[in-house]
Amino acid sequence: MSEHPHTNSHANEDVTVLIDEARIAERVSELALELERELGGLDGDVTLVPVMTGSMLFVADLIRQLRIPIRIEPVTVQSYPGTATHSRGARLQTPVPEVLRDKHVLIVDDILDSGGTLSVLRRLVGAVGPKSVRACVLLSKDVPRSHEVECEHSGFDIPDEFVVGYGLDYDGLHRNLPYIGVLSGVSE
Ligand code: IMP
Ligand code: MG
Repeated sequence: MSEHPHTNSHANEDVTVLIDEARIAERVSELALELERELGGLDGDVTLVPVMTGSMLFVADLIRQLRIPIRIEPVTVQSYPGTATHSRGARLQTPVPEVLRDKHVLIVDDILDSGGTLSVLRRLVGAVGPKSVRACVLLSKDVPRSHEVECEHSGFDIPDEFVVGYGLDYDGLHRNLPYIGVLSGVSE
């Protein structure tokens, strides 16, 4: 299933649906309930730290279903510059907000792959002095992690393929696909 009205591939690229819109919506609702149960009983509100840009669709859908008081403090991390399909090492483009001190923090990312992004963020957020730190990712790639890192909440386990859509990009494109698809026809 490569033809889709939202498809915006380059000439040789092809996107095959891996997780469709309905399944994403269903799982995001389940995650929201799971998070509500865990975070709802904490002393004080929760600050979500979405990792831009990939998590923007996920976090937008998730927060509309969270019936607990939340704040949002995004950070920008780049690990796949341009046409790279393997992490070149996570680099934070914005400082970790000082306002996270004494807050319950939930880091929200699109995908856990090598673990580099999340381990860097957990360390930097931890250094600011939050009350607690947790992480939630929509996708978790079934690969040996080169960075051992804890992730308390995860939506889907997926195979070791390069995926795009629902916020995830390849060279800046495909973020607007409403589903998650496997991208083929790109070189490393
Ligand atoms: P990690 O640092 O290797 O765990 O990778 C996490 C980051 O790399 C995510 O925040 C994504 O931005 C990006 N990433 C990892 N795998 C993919 C993929 O298959 N497609 C698009 N982006 C990815
Ligand atoms: Mg990212």
